[in-house]
Amino acid sequence: MKTAAVKPAFDVAEIRAQFPILKELVHGKPLVYFDNAATSQKPRRVIKAESAYYATINANVHRGVHTLSTKATEAQEAARETIRRHIYARHAHEVIFTSGTTASMNLAAFSLGQLLLKKGDEVLISGMEHHANIVPWQLACERHGAKLKVIPITDSGEWDLTHVPFSDKTRVLAVSHVSNTLGTINPVKQLIAEAKKRGITTVVDGAQAIAHLDVDVQDLGCDLYAFSGHKAYGPTGTGVLYGREELLERMPPWQGGGEMIDTVTFEKTTYAKLPFKFEAGTPHIAGIIGLGEAIRWMEDYDKAAMAAYEHTLLEHATKVLLTIDGLRIIGTAKEKVGVISFVIDGVHHYDLGTLLDQQGIAVRTGHHCTQPLMERFGVSGTTRASFACFNTLEEIDSMVAATKKAVKMLR
Ligand code: ALA
Repeated sequence: MKTAAVKPAFDVAEIRAQFPILKELVHGKPLVYFDNAATSQKPRRVIKAESAYYATINANVHRGVHTLSTKATEAQEAARETIRRHIYARHAHEVIFTSGTTASMNLAAFSLGQLLLKKGDEVLISGMEHHANIVPWQLACERHGAKLKVIPITDSGEWDLTHVPFSDKTRVLAVSHVSNTLGTINPVKQLIAEAKKRGITTVVDGAQAIAHLDVDVQDLGCDLYAFSGHKAYGPTGTGVLYGREELLERMPPWQGGGEMIDTVTFEKTTYAKLPFKFEAGTPHIAGIIGLGEAIRWMEDYDKAAMAAYEHTLLEHATKVLLTIDGLRIIGTAKEKVGVISFVIDGVHHYDLGTLLDQQGIAVRTGHHCTQPLMERFGVSGTTRASFACFNTLEEIDSMVAATKKAVKMLR
């Protein structure tokens, strides 16, 4: 465990009491929030940390000698150190702050494209990627004349490891740790090891992993690892790109501006040292401080106990949803986090989502920013329930009862 004072048992009532939003009513019904893969709710501690920055130490970071600037800088850099520790990175300067996973992946694709890609080279992704791990690579491929290759997906929603199109032209492997749509936990460590043997640079989209798994970037062996704060109980507009120091040193900057430079003349600019080379402009200081607090909040709990609890929610949801006539779960991998996507014969996901909302139940409907994956499964979209540690078995029963009611109305 990463902190000395981990709470001994997992007590969902104690956890729920820390989330003010869970007391809200939606359409007069208690909120049942099952859209955590889109964004998780925030504990009071995180909300307080963010507003305390504005109320007491608001100033720009790394730019002033005055007291407030020093305090803001210290608070932001404390968050960086918390994140370093949490993902087991070697150095705090390997943690780059971004506005979210999308920005992290754009940074990675732009910069690695400049560094590594030339005509005829290949970038390898998988068929279950979020658009944020497809489009930035397509743009990079277009810029450099490279090709995008795709690992096929099995019927259960896993990588087909017997058909991974590695070639001697593959320069980058960029894959998700956990599927946002299916919940599949991918064997990233195994694939990274295979890529490393071939000298391929590896990038992991960890957006859906960070709140549910114990992420150890050194153990995974990846070169870059991206995640968002807002899916891990932290503020929106915050994200991280972890990078191995040696690689970050070689990567060119993505955005230019203040704070990422060492010297500027009209003839030539030299860049600041890590991590600032990749942090142009004023960062989301309040958000970063909130993100640090969110990580410290998670570290107060035994992550294995939290994961086991979320797995109980998934197992229960899987069992009871399957009692609904004509319901099919999309994504039946052995290893999953608490994400469950389903379709029901004769029921459009959008109609179901609307009727569930009338009962105070928030789920996501649609293609979940994974259109190629929808095509793979021959569906236009799904209804997705995604769980967090504050959800309960009773909430799942309410969702299933409301779904049964909705199905009767819609068929
Ligand atoms: N990527 C987020 C989701 O899966 C928005 O809902």
